[in-house]
Amino acid sequence: MSTIESVLSETRVFPPSETMVKQANISGMAAYEAMCKEAERDFEGFWAKLARETLLWHKPFTKTLDESNAPFFRWFHDGELNASYNCLDRHLKTQPDKVAILFEADDGKITKATYKDLYHRVCQLANALKGMGVKKGDRVLIYMPMSIEAVCAMQACARIGATHSVVFGGFSAKSVQERVIDAGAIAIITADGQFRGGKEIALKPVIDEAFALGGCDGVTNVIVYQRTGSQVAMQRGRDTWWHDAVKDQPLDCEPTWVDAEHPLFILYTSGSTGKPKGVQHSTGGYLLWAMLTMRWVFDTKPNDVFWCTADVGWVTGHTYVCYGPTAVGTTQVVFEGVPTYPDAGRFWKMIQDHKVNVFYTAPTAIRSLIKAGPDLPKKYDLSSLRILGSVGEPINPEAWMWYYTTVGNSKCPIVDTWWQTETGGHLITPLPGATPLKPGSCTMPLPGIVTDIVDETGNSVGRGKGGILVIKRPWPSMIRTIWGDPERFKKSYYPEDFKGKYYLAGDGASTDEDGYYRIMGRIDDVLNVSGHRLGTMEIESALVANSKLVAEAAVVGRPDDLTGEAVCAFVVLKGARPTGDEALKIAKELREWVTKEIGAIAKPKDIRFGDNLPKTRSGKIMRRLLRSIAKGESITQDVSTLENPAILEQLKQNL
Ligand code: WTA
Repeated sequence: MSTIESVLSETRVFPPSETMVKQANISGMAAYEAMCKEAERDFEGFWAKLARETLLWHKPFTKTLDESNAPFFRWFHDGELNASYNCLDRHLKTQPDKVAILFEADDGKITKATYKDLYHRVCQLANALKGMGVKKGDRVLIYMPMSIEAVCAMQACARIGATHSVVFGGFSAKSVQERVIDAGAIAIITADGQFRGGKEIALKPVIDEAFALGGCDGVTNVIVYQRTGSQVAMQRGRDTWWHDAVKDQPLDCEPTWVDAEHPLFILYTSGSTGKPKGVQHSTGGYLLWAMLTMRWVFDTKPNDVFWCTADVGWVTGHTYVCYGPTAVGTTQVVFEGVPTYPDAGRFWKMIQDHKVNVFYTAPTAIRSLIKAGPDLPKKYDLSSLRILGSVGEPINPEAWMWYYTTVGNSKCPIVDTWWQTETGGHLITPLPGATPLKPGSCTMPLPGIVTDIVDETGNSVGRGKGGILVIKRPWPSMIRTIWGDPERFKKSYYPEDFKGKYYLAGDGASTDEDGYYRIMGRIDDVLNVSGHRLGTMEIESALVANSKLVAEAAVVGRPDDLTGEAVCAFVVLKGARPTGDEALKIAKELREWVTKEIGAIAKPKDIRFGDNLPKTRSGKIMRRLLRSIAKGESITQDVSTLENPAILEQLKQNL
């Protein structure tokens, strides 16, 4: 049965236990509904009250929401604050010696940083950056392994009002170079390398390669954290070791106060056209939502140990590693390695060792761990767990049930959190002490979040039907613009189809009779591979950039049991269509090429060669046919408009 069918036929309901309801920060459905009503009755008042209670303001705001230049909404904009101050300084009096980060390295070595330690380390690095001339509003690119230092790097930028742009350590030199140029970064913070699954992966050499590609002359300083100790080239006058940079720096650094709309960070993500977009987030609204969702959705308690397995290179690592957990003052686990090293029990062992209470991971990890050892969790004491979370892609009911029964011992609610890089934090998700759960459903929107499902003309489809997911009112942690491209922001998210009034999420969804949402996947040309967003156009451009070999390429997704979706490339070569060993050799070469252009995550799983691609007489590639071929379906669509029907047989041959 396909995932969609099994999701649609799912009827089980799991209400939270009484104990769970009793202890929860939002306790029971009535409490949830009251909050929703409150937001409906007085939208701005609802948000203003939360923002005053939750954040520490240097200068209080007087205006909550400014819609005068919609869709460029502004929240709390005349208020002033600092994100790092909100995450660290607020704990110095109350809990300086509480562990903020418990870091477990790939090899199992444990390092802890208390809130006071973290504060001093952030301050020292912030002072070092200042000494290098980095000022409020400057952009700093961060290319770091999972580490305490990665969190320090982000917060040090926030402390001095510099906008960070974190690039996932798996991205290529080319991707780094493009992001340096697009963001206009003036400094880079990186490491010599990192360890993952017992292997050493180089990082600084990738930065050197990015410089060699050209266009990065604006970067005048590179700070290098020593992680692996491997030999790396250091360019005099530009590159400084982290330990040297912070050595003599004062342990305190006065935060730079910024207005609430000041860009805290840019994070590049894939869209439906070739170039990744720099999603720009604010300081005030973003941080507010990071804190509220920690308390509401993860039900944070003073003695909790929280663990989000996401890398800081993704938005989940921004909101639920760097900012959310520290701002609410929780103890969190940060993990350098991979779930299957030294064996597939690693996650379960870590939950046992560190007595993790709230565990947040992705369906793709869950599916791979089921495959690697369905009974492994039983070998560990997982009784500390209270709440389980899922993010990044739809979780199929089979994986949900395993997570619920085998990992959570049928007592931990699963919060299946739907959100995006653009939304800053969770938007549609269960509340652990309120919402009755249905496997495969992200249930209902959080209080103050006005979601709906509409048709192509923007009309609500009504309960029990499917359509396009939109958000009808702004929310504090929403994307502010696409860095340097406000027109693209408007076109992508507030299209004219809906009179520019609704935020278009890019996902298809449906609700059932109870108003429970189910996400059906992207409606645009964006793929979700292992919870990572990839634009098909981006991969196509990478393939055709190999101008020696490739004449034309089309990329589509197909369902995959493990990774959710897989990348399938249809390629027309400049030379003759290869077969046999020759085809395998060229496919390998193309995979390496894409790894070099974008990163290993974008590597096509399937590559099919044709003399041509299926096109209409007007020359348009018929992608829906390619999708059917990629899935291995027989073609039932009308192919009469096709210029070259014979090509279909050829493309059916997978390598
Ligand atoms: C998908 C990750 C179903 C969705 C936080 C969205 C999900 C895209 C879920 C954003 C979920 C994320 N159920 N689908 N719980 N969470 N998605 O920007 O297609 O990397 O649009 O943000 O992932 O991916 P992004």
